[in-house]
Amino acid sequence: MSQTRILTGLDIGTTKTAAIIAEIDPGEEIPRLVGLGMVPSEGIRRGVVVDLEKTVRTISKAISDAELMAGVEVEHVIAGMAGDHIRSINSHGVIAVSRSDNEITENDVERVIDAARAVAIPADREIIHVLPQEYIIDEQTGIKVPVGMSGVRLEAEVHIVTAAATAVRNIYRAINRCELEVEALVLESLASSYALLNDEEQELGVAVVDIGGGTADIAVYFDNSIRHTSTVPLGGKNVTNDIAIGLRTPIDQAEEIKVKYGAAIPSLVDADDMISVPGVGTRSTRDISRNVLASIIGPRMEEILTLAHREIKKANYPETLAAGVVLAGGGALMPGTIEMAEQIFDMPVKLGIPHGFDGLTDMANSPIHATGIGLIQYGVRHGEEVARKNPARGWWKKIERWFNEHF
Ligand SMILES: Nc1ncnc2c1ncn2[C@@H]1O[C@H](COP(=O)(O)OP(=O)(O)OP(=O)(O)O)[C@@H](O)[C@H]1O
Ligand SMILES: [Mg+2]
Repeated sequence: MSQTRILTGLDIGTTKTAAIIAEIDPGEEIPRLVGLGMVPSEGIRRGVVVDLEKTVRTISKAISDAELMAGVEVEHVIAGMAGDHIRSINSHGVIAVSRSDNEITENDVERVIDAARAVAIPADREIIHVLPQEYIIDEQTGIKVPVGMSGVRLEAEVHIVTAAATAVRNIYRAINRCELEVEALVLESLASSYALLNDEEQELGVAVVDIGGGTADIAVYFDNSIRHTSTVPLGGKNVTNDIAIGLRTPIDQAEEIKVKYGAAIPSLVDADDMISVPGVGTRSTRDISRNVLASIIGPRMEEILTLAHREIKKANYPETLAAGVVLAGGGALMPGTIEMAEQIFDMPVKLGIPHGFDGLTDMANSPIHATGIGLIQYGVRHGEEVARKNPARGWWKKIERWFNEHF
């Protein structure tokens, strides 16, 4: 019997952790958001758990805030994974089609994906995604859905994403300690793309750059498939630190000044516009021009975008990404970032607002929620499949059971 499903996206970011609860009615495809909990993150650095107790508290608080708003109890989550320990490679698999009448079956597709994923992965790394890019049937390229077609030889091009095994285990551990089950672990930039891109953009060629607090996560698409994923280990926190050092003010003041008065391009602000900056400790408050603030922010934003551009180019796209670049994450909210990015990327750039959901639109339609909403959309599209295929889930369940029995 089908019933309303509850999906929860858990975006454990460097600066904020957001839990978003959605309902999806039978036969529907658009999730309806019913709860959103957002708390400052503690215990996480650049996508990696550095303090388990603090991370558990952060997750519990975000989940219980979302539960309170939604009036439902969450049992499992689709969690985001990011960090500079993530690596990705493209791989290739080949098999002979099994049926004597040459009709390609689901089983053949599974076998060819298995063949493509059989690359040497170091023991300290774990595969978190094997994303099919295209299939080739007897040298006919560009096939997206091979099942039911006819052929003798089936090949698959895939994008494989791996993560440091300890980082994966610690995310599971933190979530399990909150008495929640991990339904799927999803690369954050992949999740963000679900909420930000449409099919046409993926066909034409597009890159998503999610500038968070700790990292800028990148995903590049063309010809309707994901081609490259990568991370730049810099984000909004670095901008805040630069301001704290440059203006000799405490970090929390620097953060506030950045969000209120910051800009990535000095010409966007009036040089006569003064702001008062509290000093560290007993030092007195000083007045500085917004122009000076922008000249501290500018070089760091330029560095983040330049490194992002370098990563995007590694995707080896044909000539250009015709649909340009979509920026998301809190870092993209800095005034002047879009203009600066257009210059650096030499492509059209826009701010990505998550779409494809109903409910709580006032709260959720911000680029900082692209990952959380994308996690839910990933669950909508891959729900049953992730439950069946997530290999980490099987062995983790065993460890969890053993843990519960012995402690
Ligand atoms: N209006 C704004 N102007 C400039 N920066 C902003 C603004 N709002 C948020 N930020 C910055 O965005 C960053 C947080 O963005 P986001 O919530 O996307 O990060 P996160 O998901 O916690 O981190 P990560 O994805 O790196 O793990 C912070 O550094 C914050 O200072
Ligand atoms: Mg983020």
